[in-house]
Amino acid sequence: LIPNLTDRFGRRIEYLRLSVTDRCDLRCSYCMPEGFKDFEEPAHWLTFDEIERLLGAFARLGLKRVRITGGEPLLRRDLPALAARIASLPGIEDLSLSTNATQMDKHATALKAAGVTRLNVSLDSLHAERIEAVTGRDVLHKIMAGLTSAQQAGFAPIKINMVAMRGVNDDEIDAMVAFCMERNFVLRLIEAMPMGDTGRNTQYLDLQPVKARIQARFGLVDTAFQGGGPARYLGSPDGQFSVGFITPISQHFCGTCNRVRLSVDGTLYLCLGQEEKFEFRPLLRGGATDVDLENAICAALELKPERHEFREQPNKIVRFMSATGG
Ligand code: GTP
Ligand code: 5AD
Ligand code: SF4
Repeated sequence: LIPNLTDRFGRRIEYLRLSVTDRCDLRCSYCMPEGFKDFEEPAHWLTFDEIERLLGAFARLGLKRVRITGGEPLLRRDLPALAARIASLPGIEDLSLSTNATQMDKHATALKAAGVTRLNVSLDSLHAERIEAVTGRDVLHKIMAGLTSAQQAGFAPIKINMVAMRGVNDDEIDAMVAFCMERNFVLRLIEAMPMGDTGRNTQYLDLQPVKARIQARFGLVDTAFQGGGPARYLGSPDGQFSVGFITPISQHFCGTCNRVRLSVDGTLYLCLGQEEKFEFRPLLRGGATDVDLENAICAALELKPERHEFREQPNKIVRFMSATGG
């Protein structure tokens, strides 16, 4: 057994992103565009028992952090019950959730009680008609209600994920900084990655010049604030506000990658931008022992590639973000 979930490149893989559904109530243009139909059949969804058992094996090998994602994770029935089971696995120190927040008002209190500590929410615009254009639904008011509920339930800090798109919302970045400062949200600006047939990133916006401009305009400085992931942060001098830049295209961060992704059907994807994968459902449903699972996890990690190739091969990844887990 390889101790500490270390991969061939010496990276410690302590973070697993768990997709609990590939469905979503929205149709964000870069993730799961309108007309998408290729959903996994429910019989293939890992059950809560299977998820708990598999993550338990990961945790015994050194996994420390889990992020629940989707699709939209709040569409999975009884999600707080699953969250509680993951949060109580020995070794898991941090349980977070990425959501579009449209249903957050119904679930915020239960999720907090279940042990979810950190929340990331997608919000690409502050204009209702633009949210409708990007997501295909008129949901800005629901997202705002969700954010308010989450703050009332005690989630702090909440991170806002804004996928920056040329000609769509690039004129709103400063307004979003101001909004997040006022509401005490951490902002993250994200470069869209070419996943599935979503238009292949015609709206790609290089965030390096944006970063320089925002830094000057808002007087931001390098900050000690660090999330658990790929974002690089700037902050206000008083430490009250942080903005992170997730730049897979202009400046990738694969050298420090610490994560793998488990999709709803039990496929472990070793990299967002590569095809290497390992199917755990046959093992879970075929009588594998706990030791078999642990050996399989170590074997799967051997497959983790060095880096993505979104720049070199922008048409390579035909699966959609919603299928992989964002
Ligand atoms: P924190 O733990 O809060 O730092 O979370 P996070 O930023 O890892 O998670 P989130 O779900 O909010 O993802 C934000 C953006 O980062 C999304 O666009 C993800 O697809 C992207 N992202 C997260 N991890 C990776 C990664 O390993 N590789 C690449 N290329 N993108 C990633
Ligand atoms: N490129 C970059 N980020 C994406 N997300 C979804 N699809 C993409 C993509 N193609 C982001 C969403 C969400 C996060 C989990 O992933 O904005 O906030
Ligand atoms: Fe749904 Fe999130 Fe994908 Fe948008 S980015 S379609 S909210 S899963």
